[in-house]
Amino acid sequence: MSKYVAAIDQGTTSTRCMLFDHDGAVVSVGQKEHAQIFPRAGWVEHDPMEIWGNTREVVAQALARGNANNADIVAVGITNQRETTVVWDRTTGEPVYNAIVWQDTRTGKICEELGALGGGADRYKDRVGLPLATYFAGPKVRWILDNVEGAREKAEAGDLVMGTIDSWLIWNMTGGTDGGKHLTDVSNASRTMLMDYRKLAWDESIAEEMKIPVSMLPEIRSNSEEYGVGRKSGFLAGVPIAGSLGDQQAATFGQVCFTKGMAKNTYGTGNFMLLNTGEEAVPSKNGLLTTLCYQLGDAKPVYALEGSIAVTGSLVQWVRDNLGMIKNAPEIEDLAKSVDDNGGAYFVPAFSGLFAPHWRSDARGAVVGLTRFVNKGHLARAVLEATAYQTREVLDAMNADSGVDLTELRVDGGMVGNELLMQFQADLLDVPVIRPKIAETTALGAAYAAGLAVGFWSDLDELTAKWAEDKRWEPTMASDERERYYRNWQKAVTKSLDWVD
Ligand code: G3P
Repeated sequence: MSKYVAAIDQGTTSTRCMLFDHDGAVVSVGQKEHAQIFPRAGWVEHDPMEIWGNTREVVAQALARGNANNADIVAVGITNQRETTVVWDRTTGEPVYNAIVWQDTRTGKICEELGALGGGADRYKDRVGLPLATYFAGPKVRWILDNVEGAREKAEAGDLVMGTIDSWLIWNMTGGTDGGKHLTDVSNASRTMLMDYRKLAWDESIAEEMKIPVSMLPEIRSNSEEYGVGRKSGFLAGVPIAGSLGDQQAATFGQVCFTKGMAKNTYGTGNFMLLNTGEEAVPSKNGLLTTLCYQLGDAKPVYALEGSIAVTGSLVQWVRDNLGMIKNAPEIEDLAKSVDDNGGAYFVPAFSGLFAPHWRSDARGAVVGLTRFVNKGHLARAVLEATAYQTREVLDAMNADSGVDLTELRVDGGMVGNELLMQFQADLLDVPVIRPKIAETTALGAAYAAGLAVGFWSDLDELTAKWAEDKRWEPTMASDERERYYRNWQKAVTKSLDWVD
C-alpha cells in the first residue's frame, strides 16, 4: 500500500488539502473557498470557524479522492496565509472576533502611535526585521483587545490566546478544548512583530508596549518536527502533524531554494519574493523584510529577505467580482491580448496601502494615463502589468540589499499560467523567469517539511533532485522600452500616495 504525506494549505481565498506520494507527485486534492468579509473600507475578515470546518472538509475530500484513509498518511504538514490573526477563548474554543486578515488596514492608527513612541516605522525593526505596518499580527491582537467588549479583561485573566492560522488549526487538530497544543512555528512567528528573529523567542518588551499579555502567545517551534497527532477519533486521528510553515516560506521550500542566493516569487492574491540569505539574517536598507526562511528541527535557522506585495492576483479577482469585466480569472489574458499594449494606462492597486518597498498605509488605488482611446483591453493589460511592475520594484530592492544581481527567477502560484504576464515579467526584469514542473510549491513545501520530520524523505538533497523545469521565459524587450514602461509606472505610484487623512 502506498503511503502519502498530506499538506493542508489554508490560503487567503481558499483551503486546500493535497496528498503527495514519495515522488512528490500530487495524488489528490480537496479545495473549498471561504467568505471574504469586508465590514468597512480597508477592513478584511475571515470566520475562523468556517476555516476550521473547511479544513476538515477538504481533508476528507482529498482522502476520498486519493482512495486513502488515516492509516495511509505518514504525516501532515500545515501551511497558511500568514499574519491573519485569531484570538480565541481557550476554555470554550470560541474566537472572540473574526480573524483579521493580513490585508486589513484598520491598525494604521495603532502603528502610528507605536511609532510615535520613538523611532517611527523602524521602532522594532532591528529586533523583528519588520517595519511598523498594518500587515503584521501584533497590532491586530492589540486592536481586538482594545475593541471587543470584555476581551482585555479575559486576556489578562489568562483565558484568551492568540494565534496566526497555523496555531488556530494545530490547536483544533490536536484536540482543541480537550488538550489542544498552542504553538506556532518560527516562520509564522516572524510575522507577528513580537519575535526577536535572532533569539527565536518572544520579545516581551514589545508585547508589553503593544499591551498584549505574554500568556496569550503560543510556544515557538521549528518548521519540521512532530508537534502532536490528530484528535483521538475521526479527523486525521493519530496522524503526526510534523510540518508547519507560512505559505511563502513553504513555497520557497517547495521550490527547493535551500542555498544562499536562491529566490522564488509566488503569484497568489499578493506576490511574495523570498531570497534565501543562509544562516545570516540580512537587515534591509531598501524596504524589504528580514524574515525566517525555515528551521528544520534543532538545526540552525535559515533566514530570508522578503518583498511582499499586497495586491496582484486579487486585483484580477476585483476586476471579475467588483467590475464584472470578466467572468473568470483566466479571461483577463484574452482581454489583454485583444490590444497591443497598455494604451498609456497604469493601474496602481494600492487597496491595502502599498507594501514593499514603500510601506505606505496611506496609499490607495489609482488608475492613471486615461484617454478616450483606452478600452477594456488596455485596462486588462494595465491590471496584469501592475503585477510585473511591483515585482520589478521588489527585485531592484533585493539586488540592492544583497549586493548581488539575481540572474533568474523561479516562479509559482496561480498567475504563472498567464503567458502574457510571464513574458512581460521576464522583459521588465531582464532576467529569465522559470516555472517548475510541480507548480504546487506551497503545499509541496509543507509536505516536504512534514515528510522530512518523519523520515519519509531523507534529506534536502533528495528533495532538490525532484525539482525540474517546466517552462522558461527569456527577456526580449529593448532596454529603452523597458525603462520607459517602468518610469511611467513609478510616476503612477506617486499618484496613489497621501490619500488617507
Ligand atoms: O503574507 C500573506 C501571504 O501569506 C498570503 O498568501 O497565498 O494566501 O495570498 P496567499
